[in-house]
Amino acid sequence: MTGNGTDGADTVPAQGKAGGVDARGSAADGVTGTRAGAGAGGADGPPVPGGWLRVVGLGPGGAGLVTPEVSETLRTATDAVGYGPYLARVPARSGLRCHASDNRVELERAAAALRLAAEGRRVAVVSAGDAGVFGMAAALFEAMERGPVSWREIDLAVLPGVSAMFAVAARAGAPLGHDFCAISLSDNLKPWALVEHRLRLAAEAGFTVALYNPISRARPWQLGRAFELLREVLPAVIPVIFATAVSRADERVVVTTLGEALPAMADMRTLVMVGTAETRLLPRADGGSWVYAPRSAPDSGPASLAGDAAQSAVAPGEDAAPASARVTVPGGSTGAGQATEPAAAGEDAAP
Ligand SMILES: C[S@@+](CC[C@H](N)C(=O)[O-])C[C@H]1O[C@@H](n2cnc3c(N)ncnc32)[C@H](O)[C@@H]1O
Repeated sequence: MTGNGTDGADTVPAQGKAGGVDARGSAADGVTGTRAGAGAGGADGPPVPGGWLRVVGLGPGGAGLVTPEVSETLRTATDAVGYGPYLARVPARSGLRCHASDNRVELERAAAALRLAAEGRRVAVVSAGDAGVFGMAAALFEAMERGPVSWREIDLAVLPGVSAMFAVAARAGAPLGHDFCAISLSDNLKPWALVEHRLRLAAEAGFTVALYNPISRARPWQLGRAFELLREVLPAVIPVIFATAVSRADERVVVTTLGEALPAMADMRTLVMVGTAETRLLPRADGGSWVYAPRSAPDSGPASLAGDAAQSAVAPGEDAAPASARVTVPGGSTGAGQATEPAAAGEDAAP
């Protein structure tokens, strides 16, 4: 199966080959190899002792957000398997074989990693963020379920990473301090009607919503439609965070409102976080705003349903300045103008 919208930031109809070119010029033996079933460690026999498989999350991009456990695994693996640009984040060393593939072949990549581990290799499958959040971990289990029963004997572990929503939340303050959910806007592996259904229910239920895979060249209209739908349910004043390339050199975080949110403010490296009627803003020293979700919810249920949300986004005692003025650009300047500065539309998001 190809074209997944999970580990890749976006999906398009599969055409690319798995295997492909090693991102750093080391051995690339083709992750779609045809070795399953070929002797020891193949489809028929038990795994060769000493092999293992670790599915690791590399975090959102910054080196400081790679966990020590993941770093240690990458130090001891014989093989690293993943999307090329993510493999490029794996520290190079002699003896480590890298197997790069494109962003549309997650199941093939997973099967190839299982084959390698069954052959006795120590294999790290890499994902961005956390491998279990729209990442390679689910693809790995899908491949395992469909593959030879002997694969289930492989020494396997999934190691957590820092998912984009947690890095974004930390930059913004504490917008996930109360109940929240994550929804991928990619409709490559699910019908768009289901995305709309879930968005509407999440908004009605009063969840803060983290929107992954918000936009790409292949999916240019979905984010705009999502905002339209959310505006039908939620008040226009609720805070919306556009966080792009968090923890990387070109990180950009913009806080605006649902009423002023524009699809052009996102690209494929953006996580969009939509608050609730309870979400609060507090001024920060740099002129921007902290965003946080109070720990308690009103007895009456979501304020969005009670119709009293118009004043709720601003902390008591604060002026209700236009949200477009509340712009935070960590590591850079702050100012109202950046709230509406369009971000470049990206290529399709990668695994
Ligand atoms: C295929 S998903 C992978 C998610 C990843 N497994 C995780 O846990 O963060 C790709 C999406 O994650 C989000 N994302 C990944 N890295 C990000 C970053 N550094 N800053 C903001 N959003 C990011 C974007 O929404 C992007 O379109």
